[in-house]
Amino acid sequence: MKIKIKKLINKKNKSKIICLTAYSKNIAEEVDKIADITLVGDSLGSVLYNYSSTREVTLSDMIKHSKSVRQGIKKSIMVVDMPFNTYSNNSKALKNAKKIIRETKCDAVKLEGGKEIINQIKHLVKNKIPVMGHLGVLPQSIKGKFRSVGKNEREKKQLLNDAILLEKNGVFGIVLECIKTPIAKLITHKINIPTIGIGSSVYCDGQVLVTDDLIGLNNTNIKFVKKFINIKKFINKGLKQFSLQVKSRKYPSKKYSY
Ligand code: KIV
Repeated sequence: MKIKIKKLINKKNKSKIICLTAYSKNIAEEVDKIADITLVGDSLGSVLYNYSSTREVTLSDMIKHSKSVRQGIKKSIMVVDMPFNTYSNNSKALKNAKKIIRETKCDAVKLEGGKEIINQIKHLVKNKIPVMGHLGVLPQSIKGKFRSVGKNEREKKQLLNDAILLEKNGVFGIVLECIKTPIAKLITHKINIPTIGIGSSVYCDGQVLVTDDLIGLNNTNIKFVKKFINIKKFINKGLKQFSLQVKSRKYPSKKYSY
């Protein structure tokens, strides 16, 4: 396992892990300064392309954005989401994971699911592909209305069993999405690899958010998203200044002309 990934696992119970998404070089440069993990999430489908679900995201969408992100990363672990239908059996999963790693030079891939995809995870790990897991709400599988999970005993048992199974089969960390606090806390306590929460309480070993959401670039009203800054205000201010100065002939002055 790569040194960077070993160091990440060692952070468990010591310091919180920061994970943020990036879809392009310029955002990746900023994310990389503060994050342990830069995730090229397939959330780019809804955030950038207005796809109705992440199921529409293709391998070439992910590879194109990941190549750009790679240019902005110096130190964080770069993880790329394997899109829907690219890991439906062992050979497909390995072929596509190898392609993603070869073409984007990322450090690891992330797959959504537990027991139902354990053979693919085993196969990737056996072939030395670092894998991150993703349990709870699985955007690639959502049918009907979005709702948090881990409410009843059946769901709790399944989530805990899946987390233990993923750890046993070599994933180096697990994203827990929209899992009720008590079970997110229990999973984090029971396993020895880091849990990265999104809408899954403060008890996870780290937190992830979609960067466009937390900086206010993407309009969303999901409960777990805190808007830490409204970047649109700054963009708007700069663009208005440009427009005003062009109209008043202040820009481009001699300084900006050949
Ligand atoms: O696609 C994504 O951005 C993700 C994170 C939100 C965990 O999977």
